[in-house]
Amino acid sequence: MPESPERPVATAARVYDYMLGGTHNSAVDREAAAHMVRSFPLAAVGARYNREFLGRVVRFLTGAGVRQFLDLGSGIPTVGNVHEIAQAEAPGARVVYVDYERDAVELGQRILSDNPDATALLADLREPDVVLGSPEVTGLLDFSRPVAVLMISVLHFVPDDAQALDLVRRYLSRLTSGSYFALSHLVRAEGRAGNLQRETRHVYNSTVAENLAIREPGQIAAFFAGLELVEPGLVAVPDWRPDDPDYVPDEEDVPRRVGLAGVGRVP
Ligand SMILES: C[S@@+](CC[C@H](N)C(=O)[O-])C[C@H]1O[C@@H](n2cnc3c(N)ncnc32)[C@H](O)[C@@H]1O
Repeated sequence: MPESPERPVATAARVYDYMLGGTHNSAVDREAAAHMVRSFPLAAVGARYNREFLGRVVRFLTGAGVRQFLDLGSGIPTVGNVHEIAQAEAPGARVVYVDYERDAVELGQRILSDNPDATALLADLREPDVVLGSPEVTGLLDFSRPVAVLMISVLHFVPDDAQALDLVRRYLSRLTSGSYFALSHLVRAEGRAGNLQRETRHVYNSTVAENLAIREPGQIAAFFAGLELVEPGLVAVPDWRPDDPDYVPDEEDVPRRVGLAGVGRVP
């Protein structure tokens, strides 16, 4: 768990909440975010792109008939949570949020106290047996039916490449045909975006409890091995099924170039 009671440190969950305009963060998180915004003024735009992708994915998945969601590294419940979107589209849709940041999970549990179809679990996603064997997961999710596993902007906090691949494989091995896996992940950028990205990662890794691993496109594609990639495939985060029918990708848009997103279906 990323907290140290003796000396407060910024955490990924609270820095991200601050970037999205949330209020569940402390001075140390705001300071880390301010450092980051100095090296990468568009960091908050990247966070917003990611959160919007999450919304589009959940609407796509409910449209595809999915009624169960396992949201790994779910973060601080902020506007546009998975259960809000899924249950608005499909009442009774079931959601288990998993995060290792205590504040995020406790807040989630309070918000969900009167929601029998959603819950929040305090656990480390690097322990799939603990997550999948927890009463929260076994009580709410039925793995003999399709489940969507979401790893949205979280796998880059697992720096070991082999461990990250193994984790995805272990979660996916539990899924039945018609299940889905959705991912967004920081990708190595080139040129000006690459320089900004390197500086930002340096600031992030020296101020936030978690370290960021930025991967190559091929490494990110490898997470989808054995799955059928949903159209349009693995693409820049805002390019994945944009809501705006007039959306045109902007090659100069730096935050657009630092993350990839995709959705795979279990055949
Ligand atoms: C950038 S936020 C993304 C939140 C949400 N998925 C979204 O995209 O809006 C990353 C979250 O992953 C969580 N996280 C990072 N490593 C984790 C781990 N090993 N186990 C559980 N949660 C983790 C952090 O606490 C944080 O809340």
